[in-house]
Amino acid sequence: MEEFKIENNQEPTSIELRPGLEGVPVTQSSICDIDGIKGDLKYRGYSIAELAQKSSFLETTFLLIWGNLPTASQLREFENQIQMHRRLSFRVRDMMKCFPESGHPMDALQSSAASLGLFYSRRAIDDPKYIYDAVVRLIAKIPTMVAAFQLIRKGQDPIQPRDDLPYSANFLYMLTEKEPDPLAARVFDRCLILHAEHSLNASTFSARVTASTLTDPYAVIASAVGTLAGPLHGGANEDVIKMLQEVQTPDLAGKYLDKAIKSKQKIMGFGHREYKVKDPRASLLQSFAEELFARFGKDEMYDVAKALEAEASPRLGPKGIYPNVDFYSGLVYRKLGIPRDLFTPIFAISRVAGWLAHWREQLSANRIFRPTQIYKGEKDRNWEPLEDR
Ligand code: SDX
Repeated sequence: MEEFKIENNQEPTSIELRPGLEGVPVTQSSICDIDGIKGDLKYRGYSIAELAQKSSFLETTFLLIWGNLPTASQLREFENQIQMHRRLSFRVRDMMKCFPESGHPMDALQSSAASLGLFYSRRAIDDPKYIYDAVVRLIAKIPTMVAAFQLIRKGQDPIQPRDDLPYSANFLYMLTEKEPDPLAARVFDRCLILHAEHSLNASTFSARVTASTLTDPYAVIASAVGTLAGPLHGGANEDVIKMLQEVQTPDLAGKYLDKAIKSKQKIMGFGHREYKVKDPRASLLQSFAEELFARFGKDEMYDVAKALEAEASPRLGPKGIYPNVDFYSGLVYRKLGIPRDLFTPIFAISRVAGWLAHWREQLSANRIFRPTQIYKGEKDRNWEPLEDR
């Protein structure tokens, strides 16, 4: 056990260093419960399988943020408010037109989400109406931002939301300029439910740390978007497709894995800090992919993915490394005609619900996050003149 002097000059103590805060509870929460051994995930006590089957993304968003399923009138009001706030100010659209087309959509999303703080600068985080309005604006506008950049980077003008389309159908419409098939919209809505919340993952922890300084919710969301973008977190779904293309055919899956494991390469879409079995979301996403394949035709890449999962089981299963949420999600989005570099922005569209739930919960019992460190640097040095160095 390390002996060290903690910063506020208390007596030396021996606290174990926990890189990445693994296993360290840093808050109490009532939003999401994960059983990583059983492979069980619940939002506010409801299983994700039941929510994915019976709920909608907006109903699940309400549940995550305010703790209970909405009444019919609450849901109607929430849906109406979101529908009314989907549009972006022309200033945001014009700002996005200055972004380089080659930029990654996650960087475009982080910049445009942060810009909302300029338009809604009043900060009244102790006012429930301010909180409700900020939730509505972010849930409503984030999808419009993702779709807008997609059209802008193709040299087109973004198209306005369609008020006659529900949330998920409208997003697919703004993205593809075509009204989606009802099955495609339903499957997409279920994907949003599955990605909406996952306790203290890296981006949600970022959100809570940022929220604990009492800054505005737009900065909280921008901070979380930047964190989600990393390939070890939300960015993995994009890299899984690149990996499946590299493997090419199912019979080459074993060879690919042996080479990757030998070179200590992380297999994208596998492994999880919490789950030591297959991520329950991966199994549900697999069933969504199969539903789409049955209707719209198969994706050969699915056989490669299943072969990789089968070959990884004896190689990585003993270490508790199984497919996570990112392993099959990209195959669903491909079948929906969504470009690969939009997979993580779509993850962000969904996870805004969880980030806002944690923002609200952090404010309800706030203490600014400020962990300590074990100092390993130089001590008591004096400045030397340039000629003496
Ligand atoms: C998400 O936290 C969340 O909840 C995240 C998320 C959410 O909903 O918010 O679930 C979404 O981010 C899913 C994860 C997406 N990322 C990937 O698929 C990238 C590949 N996965 C790994 O980088 C890794 O599994 C992590 C980052 C997901 C978890 O890493 P940990 O818990 O820090 O584990 P580790 O890196 O310390 O690895 C422990 C051991 C190591 O082996 P040893 O050095 O002990 O011999 O397991 C090995 C690692 O090499 N390992 C892997 C591996 N993941 C862990 N080996 C090969 N391939 C992998 N994917």
